[in-house]
Amino acid sequence: MKRIFLASLIAGLFTFGISYAADHKAMHEKMTEMGGPKPDDRIELKLPDTMKVMQKRMMRQHLDTVGEITLAIANNDLSKAAAVAKGLGWSPEEEARCSMVSDLTGEKDFLSLGMAVHKSADELAQAAVAGDRDLALINLSKLVKNCNACHEKFRH
Ligand code: HEC
Repeated sequence: MKRIFLASLIAGLFTFGISYAADHKAMHEKMTEMGGPKPDDRIELKLPDTMKVMQKRMMRQHLDTVGEITLAIANNDLSKAAAVAKGLGWSPEEEARCSMVSDLTGEKDFLSLGMAVHKSADELAQAAVAGDRDLALINLSKLVKNCNACHEKFRH
């Protein structure tokens, strides 16, 4: 009985090995198709690990907020969209947070890229307050693009 178990375990590991190798080969072919592996040439933010964990937690919260705003607009609940967007807007607290990262890393652009995101959240809120759903959607798209402008420049 023990021997059968051992044999099937070995057989399982063997097939796993084959399928892993096949997946790896397919992935390698795909990357070559896309022009080959490229170095990550974004600027590394030199922050302590604990701050990186905090920053990423905040980021996931930002993404959640974007999801909530999208849902509120989809439901035609523009006052909810305005309220949620306002929470992501530019404030002394956000300024303090973005400035701290900028100062710690010596990366001035972190502050301006962060400010752009929070200010576009304010613009989104204004459009929603005015009841302009189309403009709110345009501003939502601008907001997401501003999020990514920072991701294109910086990494952990
Ligand atoms: C000023 C810079 C900046 C802005 C603006 C910014 N991010 Fe980020 N974001 C980062 C950095 C730096 C990381 C870490 C990247 C890494 O791990 O290399 C990150 C990571 C993330 C992650 C991954 C989190 C994880 O758990 O790994 C998500 C999701 C994210 N950001 C969402 C957003 C959203 C949504 C917005 C806009 C509302 C936004 N970010 C705006 C700098 C920024």
